[in-house]
Amino acid sequence: MTQALRLGIAGLGTVGVGVVKIVRRHADLLQARTGRPVQITAVSARDANKDRGVNLSDYAWETDPVSLAKRDDVDVFVELMGGENGPAKASVEAALASGKDVVTANKALLAIHGQELAEKAEAAGRVIRFEAAVAGGIPVIKSLTEGLAGNEITRVMGVMNGTCNYILTRMQSQELGYNALFEECAQLGYLEADPNLDVGGIDAAHKLALLSSIAFGTKPNFNGIEIEGIQQISLDDIHQAHDMGYRIKLLGVAQRTARGLEQRMQPCLVPSDSPLGQLEGGTNMVVLDGDAVEQIVLRGPGAGEGPTASAVMGDVCDLARGLHIPTFGRPAASLEEAKPAVTGLPAPYYLRLGLQDKPGALAKVASILGDAGVSIDRMRQYGHAESTAPVLIVTHKTTRATLDVALEGLRDTDVIAGEPVALRIEEV
Ligand SMILES: NC(=O)c1ccc[n+]([C@@H]2O[C@H](COP(=O)([O-])OP(=O)(O)OC[C@H]3O[C@@H](n4cnc5c(N)ncnc54)[C@H](OP(=O)(O)O)[C@@H]3O)[C@@H](O)[C@H]2O)c1
Repeated sequence: MTQALRLGIAGLGTVGVGVVKIVRRHADLLQARTGRPVQITAVSARDANKDRGVNLSDYAWETDPVSLAKRDDVDVFVELMGGENGPAKASVEAALASGKDVVTANKALLAIHGQELAEKAEAAGRVIRFEAAVAGGIPVIKSLTEGLAGNEITRVMGVMNGTCNYILTRMQSQELGYNALFEECAQLGYLEADPNLDVGGIDAAHKLALLSSIAFGTKPNFNGIEIEGIQQISLDDIHQAHDMGYRIKLLGVAQRTARGLEQRMQPCLVPSDSPLGQLEGGTNMVVLDGDAVEQIVLRGPGAGEGPTASAVMGDVCDLARGLHIPTFGRPAASLEEAKPAVTGLPAPYYLRLGLQDKPGALAKVASILGDAGVSIDRMRQYGHAESTAPVLIVTHKTTRATLDVALEGLRDTDVIAGEPVALRIEEV
């Protein structure tokens, strides 16, 4: 019989247990598809006595994931612990140094240390596969590296944090404010231990850094991403965007422009009738634009035991079949330094201002925008009971730098109450 592919799994939480279940449930299917048995030989987690709801008695137990990574009876090290440093990084390095391929779901590790690890993998003649790290069950990395390999990719865009999309769509459907939904997500266990990773846009930005690297052949540059979370989005913004035919999404966009590589993860308005506008709940969506294919839209579960384990097993099956694609889809040494765009491409913006109820206030706003070079496309003033009136403006296309000059001017006047909200309207 052909030699088995032997897995060592470090991390037996949500994803790790999901992987163990698939290997056990689909042993025959995996062998039929890859031509060889896929087996687990050893596992590691912190607590050896925890009941994880799966039978682990057939596998050797290692308390130290680095020791697991070095075992002679492990061919592929599967890292499912998480964390950008600590045992995850140490054990991945140990696995590569011991001549093993690595499969991981760890976006933080790769967004921060991806280049260094990809170079180490190549020096060792191994690969790191990480389909599960981006958009959970959606095979977006395979789509970019394999299905779309003949395209020049012009843009990568998507909703890649299910918790944020859940909050934003429930704000719309349940008429609940951000704080109430944040609490609900905490109760449901939808938030990371540090919730700012989710609502602050950092988790989704880690994913964008990885996709951007594959799409544009650049070294992962997490620090080059403009990141803004969803914390300042109010129920008013949701309603007013809806009135004008838009939905608000935490949207990641990466595109190569004449001004450099533009990478941003921020709340944006997208047309309500677009696929992104219709994306509900915790689902993820990635939209890929290529010169030959034009556009493809991938949609599916972005997290959870089954979907994430499904993506891990896709990578495992590739390795079992002998498919070794370089970590970021091309040799690590050939990845260019990402030159961040100085300013983003111009776009229309949505502005929400609390206008003081004073004569001439609106004229003052219009003149500040005009002086900065921002022209108004549409404007709406809402009914009000207090001394300030919500005013909503949609601008013509402008750069964020120009808009920032106008916002500075608005903050300095005595006709605006509170902080103006400015959200980009994305062409999708
Ligand atoms: N959950 C998802 O839906 C999802 C989706 C996409 C990607 N991911 C990524 O997948 C990875 C795992 O996520 P998860 O949700 O499965 O995490 P999790 O449920 O918190 O599980 C983490 C596992 O790692 C083990 N672990 C932590 N530190 C360890 C150490 N020092 N030595 C040995 N084991 C250690 C834990 O052991 P104990 O059980 O003994 O505490 C636990 O089994 C992360 O990188 C995450 O970002 C998760």
